[in-house]
Amino acid sequence: MAFPESFLQELKLRNDITDVVSSYVNLKRRGRNMVGLCPFHGEKTPSFNIYTENGSFYCFGCGTGGDVITFIMRIENLDYLDAVKFLAQRAGLELPEDSYDDSMSRLRLKIFEANREAARFYYDSLYQSSGKQGLDYLHGRALSDKTIRRFGLGFADDSWSSLCSHLRSKGFSDSELVAANLAVKHKNGNGIYDRFRNRVMFPIIDIRGNVIAFGGRIMADEKPKYLNTSDTPVFKKSTNLFSLNNAKNSGSRTLILCEGYMDVIAVNQAGFANAVATLGTALTAEQAMLMKRYADEVIICYDADEAGQKATARAISILRNSGLSVRVVNIPNGKDPDEFIRSHGSDGPAAFRAVIENCGNDIEYRLSKLKKQFNTEITDGKIAYLEEAAKIVSAISSPIEQDIYASRLSSELGIEKEAFLRQVKKLDRKNQRELRSKQMRKIRSDLNGTTDRINTEHRKQPRSSSAEEALVVHMINNPDSANEIANLLTADKFSNSLIKRYYVYFLNRIQSGLEPLTNISADFTGDEISKLYQLINRYSRVTSTPQAMREYIDVILDEDSKLTEDKISSMSPQELSEYIARLKKNKQ
Ligand code: GTP
Ligand code: MN
Repeated sequence: MAFPESFLQELKLRNDITDVVSSYVNLKRRGRNMVGLCPFHGEKTPSFNIYTENGSFYCFGCGTGGDVITFIMRIENLDYLDAVKFLAQRAGLELPEDSYDDSMSRLRLKIFEANREAARFYYDSLYQSSGKQGLDYLHGRALSDKTIRRFGLGFADDSWSSLCSHLRSKGFSDSELVAANLAVKHKNGNGIYDRFRNRVMFPIIDIRGNVIAFGGRIMADEKPKYLNTSDTPVFKKSTNLFSLNNAKNSGSRTLILCEGYMDVIAVNQAGFANAVATLGTALTAEQAMLMKRYADEVIICYDADEAGQKATARAISILRNSGLSVRVVNIPNGKDPDEFIRSHGSDGPAAFRAVIENCGNDIEYRLSKLKKQFNTEITDGKIAYLEEAAKIVSAISSPIEQDIYASRLSSELGIEKEAFLRQVKKLDRKNQRELRSKQMRKIRSDLNGTTDRINTEHRKQPRSSSAEEALVVHMINNPDSANEIANLLTADKFSNSLIKRYYVYFLNRIQSGLEPLTNISADFTGDEISKLYQLINRYSRVTSTPQAMREYIDVILDEDSKLTEDKISSMSPQELSEYIARLKKNKQ
């Protein structure tokens, strides 16, 4: 354990969860708790709760929960140690000495250093004779030296070992280079070799300026065209965006979302510093939430091909759900942004600016795409188009916005606006009904644990699992009862291995005189913490009495003996005699 308990308690005391969360989420009081829109998934009605009495949060929509440290880990994308540092700084607390001897945190720092050194090495290589083909390639794609420097682009040569030897000479170990995914182990187990070879290199830099990963493009027509760093202890491709470090300082609350590295760079060179791209995967909700922190509006600027258009449809709904306004660029002539800008030569920047300034919002984009599928000159086509259009309009939450599209469509197609609006309202009500029954289904399946990914054993042993869950929560809320519980049953009576782990952990802490939940973020994974707070918040809603506690224990013992009976009846004679021998031995 990295930090003393007293320090962590002080840290939590001085970082009130409501204060901390309210700098990210707009909170409103509801009864004893505070609620707001969840920052970890997109939603329109608040299901994100802050429980001030035990300093925790839990979202009923996405099931994320934890304490103030977990919250900072998730929202700032930090590991445990950095989150603690962040909160200490916020509260003006000194970090205790010797709290850095955490091997994971040391490794992360090493990876950041190795990546930074690698980026410098790749960049320097461009301007040496061995890197000439890389520099020629980048110049050939119309990038200036200024742009190359701004993005820290580079070149990885073909030697299989030049990066490894350089970094070794700087004191990095082979295992650190493999952990950073800058090098790969030989299949036969002997030594390592450079992962990126004969590619131009694009460093990926996070919002704090750390080099967290690389993308590398092959210069010839070979596969894979782009090779990216795999996920490492400092990098997860689904939660980062290329060039967000530049975009966040662009002074604009609009982001331009592109498909590829080269598009972002070309768009930057054309004068727009606010461009970002996903890292070779489809847009995720996490990336949308990250954008939401720096922007109010996103302009989707994907390739004009079919794949790009499909990706656009997905991105619209993810971005909208995160509360961002969306506009969509239609790049003419089937090009991507980079090709479009280049094809206009010295007029490229102006041409691109015109496209950006004239693009419509997501509704206009979807309506115009839809209209192309129908022949609205004939009555049937017109009706079919309007029915589909009403679906799009009914999904808009603002009635004023709905009215605007109703006016436009009715005058465009020569129909009565009121008739179109009636159709929209009808669909509105249907959507509401569907939403409510979906929510009910989710609550039901949450309650009986059928779709629980983390606590998977609950559905196999629902009766004993429920009793075990309630008992652990009872013990956390009533630490005085821990000794009595421990006298009445042993941990091996638990049927559910996750709940058993919670039980052993909390019993141990309480018996050592520690507050149960103080260090939870260091000792369990994010998912396990979320699950724990779901259980705490569910079972704490009814006050648990000593009587109830004994009933939970009775259920656990009862289920355990049933399980034992089942086991015994299916034993072979030999297994049975071994079992009896073991029992006898335990009794002695
Ligand atoms: P250029 O051909 O260099 O202009 O790249 P592009 O951005 O036009 O390429 P494309 O539209 O094919 O790809 C868009 C993005 O998808 C790239 O920036 C990469 O992040 C990713 N990507 C493309 N090809 C590959 C690949 O072979 N492997 C992986 N992992 N990602 C790829
Ligand atoms: Mn391209």
